[in-house]
Amino acid sequence: MEQFSFEELSRYPDVQADNLFASDAADRLLLEEAAGDLTVAGDNDVVIIGDRYGALTLGAAAMFNPGRIRVHQDSITGEMALDSNAQRLAPDAGYMHYGLGEELLAGARVVLMQLPRSLEALAEIADAVARYGADDVVLYAGGQVKHMSLAMNEVLGRYFGSVQAGLGKRKARVLTSREVLRPQSPSEYPARQFHPGLGLWICAHGAAFAGTKVDLGTRFLLKFLPKTGIESGTAVDLGCGTGLIAAELARLKPGLEVIATDQSAAAVDSAAATAEANGLSARVSAVRDDAMATFEDASAGLIVCNPPFHIGASVHAGAALKLFDAAARVLRPGGELWTVYNSHLRYRPQLEKTVGPTEQLGRNPKFTVTRSIRR
Ligand SMILES: C[S@@+](CC[C@H](N)C(=O)[O-])C[C@H]1O[C@@H](n2cnc3c(N)ncnc32)[C@H](O)[C@@H]1O
Repeated sequence: MEQFSFEELSRYPDVQADNLFASDAADRLLLEEAAGDLTVAGDNDVVIIGDRYGALTLGAAAMFNPGRIRVHQDSITGEMALDSNAQRLAPDAGYMHYGLGEELLAGARVVLMQLPRSLEALAEIADAVARYGADDVVLYAGGQVKHMSLAMNEVLGRYFGSVQAGLGKRKARVLTSREVLRPQSPSEYPARQFHPGLGLWICAHGAAFAGTKVDLGTRFLLKFLPKTGIESGTAVDLGCGTGLIAAELARLKPGLEVIATDQSAAAVDSAAATAEANGLSARVSAVRDDAMATFEDASAGLIVCNPPFHIGASVHAGAALKLFDAAARVLRPGGELWTVYNSHLRYRPQLEKTVGPTEQLGRNPKFTVTRSIRR
């Protein structure tokens, strides 16, 4: 068996810092525990889901050479990192990116996945594996023990007759699921819920932030949106999740064209479904992109953002600051960035510095809403 040097992987173009890594113990343990199946796997037998930066895909290709591998990563930065690592370290690795669905999983026999944080995300993935995988499909799901819960075994148990937890090693563990139970009813995703208080449908794929619910910070921010004086041109819901801010903006301001954008495939698909469910698709488009990287400079008059405070499982301000920098570039001079954040985060000096003059529009015991005018 060939070796693979995980240390050479890079997180680029994702946020980089000394305490953030490109691979973890779960990647290595997954490849160890699935070694028997990977050794005998052929073209298209292997599917990788949730690879962070390429450790699973490139590790499997280098160590087991199973032919063509199908890959799904929710995050576009994960996709870009896999591609850039492949170019540098393994230009011959044969893999292709797919959305989460039949094309990804049809006939799959060995599926390796990094466990997502949310149970809903896990359920949607397990449902797809059980729906489209081969009769003998085996799903290896790994994670760091501190982020795993027994509820994960229960979710997997809805889709597989046998779910076994392996031994913990280097603080990681793998759950191995066999004996697929084919779902008998159509997929429940995206889930949808009507919110009478808002008068909006929210649609959510499993991995979308807050699911079909409304995050408390978002709810606070929504109260202020009617006050924006920007009535026409392009507005952006940056880090759109299920796209409820985009839908609310489009509904409040019939002159606005709204772009809902997120790095997550689940988010963008959810935002498109939310727009459709509310009859707003003509004025709301959904774009998967890393911090608006493909947007023109000075192309938007209004950006509304409830920024992330996590990168993967770590709490890290870098993710929010990256979005503020992007907003400063994409706003036209005089354009407005509206944002909400946990009051203790004190983003206001950063907003002043990167975007421009920033005023507090509201504050409750937990959240602060600000408006920054692009200088
Ligand atoms: C706190 S959630 C807000 C979601 C939604 N706007 C809401 O209010 O419910 C932050 C969102 O930012 C997205 N995000 C994080 N980093 C991003 C990046 N670099 N580019 C685009 N979106 C990003 C996450 O995927 C997540 O959906």
